[in-house]
Amino acid sequence: MKTKQVIYDNNFDLHSLNKFSSVMALGNGYLGVRAAHEEDYTGQIRGMYVAGVYNKATANETSDLVNLPDIAGMLIEIDGINFSMLEGEVLSYERGLSLETGELRREFIWKNKTGARFKFVFQRFAAKDHLHLLASKVTVASLDKPARIKMITGINAQQTNFGRQHLIEESVRVFNEEILQGIYQTTETGIIISIAASIHAPGASRISFSAKNRQLNASIDGDLVKDEPFVFEKIGTVYTSLESTNPDRDSLENLKSNSLLGYEALLERSASKWQEFWQAKRIEITSTDEFDQTAMDFALYHMEIMTPAHDERFSVGAKGLTGEGYKGHVFWDTEIFIAPFHLFTEPETAKKLLRYRYLHLQQAKEKAAQNGYEGALFPWESAMTGKEETPEFAAINIRTGTRQKVASAISEHHIVADIAFAVVQYFQNTLDEEFMRNEGLALLKETAQFWMSRTVEEGGKLSIKDVIGPDEYTEHIDNNAYTNYMAYYNVEQALYFMDQFQHTDEQLFNRGKDFLNTLYLPKPNKDKIIPQDDTFLSKPEIDLTPYKQTQGSQAILLDYSRAEVNEMQILKQADTVMLLYLFPDLFPKEVVAKNLHYYEAHTIHDSSLSKAIHAIVAARCEDEEAAYRFFKEACLIDLGPNPHSSDEGIHAASLGAIWLTTMFGFANMSQRTGRLNFNPKLPENWSELVFPLTYQGRKLKVKLTHQHFEITKLLGPDLAIEINGRDYLLSDTVEVEIKN
Ligand code: BGC
Repeated sequence: MKTKQVIYDNNFDLHSLNKFSSVMALGNGYLGVRAAHEEDYTGQIRGMYVAGVYNKATANETSDLVNLPDIAGMLIEIDGINFSMLEGEVLSYERGLSLETGELRREFIWKNKTGARFKFVFQRFAAKDHLHLLASKVTVASLDKPARIKMITGINAQQTNFGRQHLIEESVRVFNEEILQGIYQTTETGIIISIAASIHAPGASRISFSAKNRQLNASIDGDLVKDEPFVFEKIGTVYTSLESTNPDRDSLENLKSNSLLGYEALLERSASKWQEFWQAKRIEITSTDEFDQTAMDFALYHMEIMTPAHDERFSVGAKGLTGEGYKGHVFWDTEIFIAPFHLFTEPETAKKLLRYRYLHLQQAKEKAAQNGYEGALFPWESAMTGKEETPEFAAINIRTGTRQKVASAISEHHIVADIAFAVVQYFQNTLDEEFMRNEGLALLKETAQFWMSRTVEEGGKLSIKDVIGPDEYTEHIDNNAYTNYMAYYNVEQALYFMDQFQHTDEQLFNRGKDFLNTLYLPKPNKDKIIPQDDTFLSKPEIDLTPYKQTQGSQAILLDYSRAEVNEMQILKQADTVMLLYLFPDLFPKEVVAKNLHYYEAHTIHDSSLSKAIHAIVAARCEDEEAAYRFFKEACLIDLGPNPHSSDEGIHAASLGAIWLTTMFGFANMSQRTGRLNFNPKLPENWSELVFPLTYQGRKLKVKLTHQHFEITKLLGPDLAIEINGRDYLLSDTVEVEIKN
């Protein structure tokens, strides 16, 4: 390994507690646990989430990803004094999340208010080799004198989603004076969740148990002998009725068989799975700034722990399993920003994410029908049922008491074509005919049919009216370029694959052809600018400098109402630039560069989905300085200095986009000629880039410097590829000198 793969939080700071709880979260795609400290602090938000466990607190609210009972919290008292880093003095503090092993570790010396010093080590991980297992270990040593220690910890069902309680406590039990178990049921969805935890304290400790006010606790009293570590271990298991017919039994049996092994042996088992992951998927960057490698490792770590690769019934929430932002809902973020990483490293996972959509085709058809359309209209926000989950109203205006309607569910329809795009991308990578014949074609046909019914005829052309494109600061507009081109591609690909797979539906075919012939596709104007929509370019402009300086905070909405923002040339995020990213050859280079420049100047980047996409298009335009700058800024969305950037969870799509930038921007990979194609644009600061790829059943490895491109086939038959415009047959290794 080149750089140490650790994310540090070496300054205990109350302001950034919740940010680091998200950034350093643990997980394995089945469950996620926030890296809240063991001891409580006012305002600290704990959280444990299991993929797919959603619930509505009341009938008129949308589903929450349920914050489950907590097993990480702990109250520690030494000689009657409560341990808190806000009391006494903290000496030599170190906290780090090892991406290499998946372990979170905090180590420090604490001097209490009487001057006695204690060394603490807290360790924790979520097992990568056993999706239901969590483990923690606390080591305390008294450095000055013997002392008494008391620890209180258990299963705490007082957890809520920002005050919304989702669980009924069904039963709490203690077995053999060492295992605690709580069984809960979600109030609306009826999911059973069983959580069990075992307690291992030094032999001489006295343990008692209690259950009160939704808390099942063990209280451990022990003696600290000077300089002798007091080691406490707590191993936990979580099972739900989503995957188990008997979560009660499974949580207990798996806990018993695993906890006997002890923390360190369990960690070793899990860490070796992380090693396999890094060996197979790590991208190695040699940069003048080591942070680039850290940011990439961080992105891959989170993409791995956010994705429920074990179960196609679930997909990836906008904050993964690290927090309650966007209520754990699934957006276009999954197909466009996150799935490509899986597709090019583990296509089976990408397939499961598409299967999630396929399994909800019926609900998408119902949504289309309810809105007077044909085919499938996928919800803008989705959770367990596949029904629309976008909240009807946004935050309240506390002066007027009125709430603003959220328009995305009503008109942000590009998600339909985004899903279709991902279907085609999946097929191009895997050539998985079975999938295409079944799920793929069904998705393509239904989505295509939606677009055909979504247009209106105007002066001999078809328009797509009243939509929101990716730029959510511009609502209810007609002929959004991104949406229209994506809809065109959706229908075109549906017809192409219907033809390829001899899927006869004459009527749909002819209707589709008419659609393609008559759909209005915005073209560059005399200044070579592609109009974002019918009216965008005629709207007034304002100086966005102050808002760009506070990007991500939506500060513009404090100065202007949404309606006012709508009437100006202001973008929240990449829109036309998004189109240029997905279709690199749609317009000549000069048009791409002009539009990148024009639209970037009008973009605040208030959405985390924006920066990295600009980086990709800038790299392709050979604006190396801008590309690297945008990349850096994208990397700082979660890892930057803003103490509150990630309070409610990491930005899943933006992490996916760090990988996208490297692959589709800097390595500049595409499938534009129907074959894998590279035209590298390595940043000046990077001297080498090495990455693995899975493509059409082959395992490939690419090594790239400013002078040299090398691709090796590790597995699979020969492959025709294109590098810098020249064709090669890859049977073993192809090496190409790059002329600058
Ligand atoms: C962005 C959307 C995105 C959503 C979830 C919004 O702020 O505008 O494009 O899908 O966040 O990440």
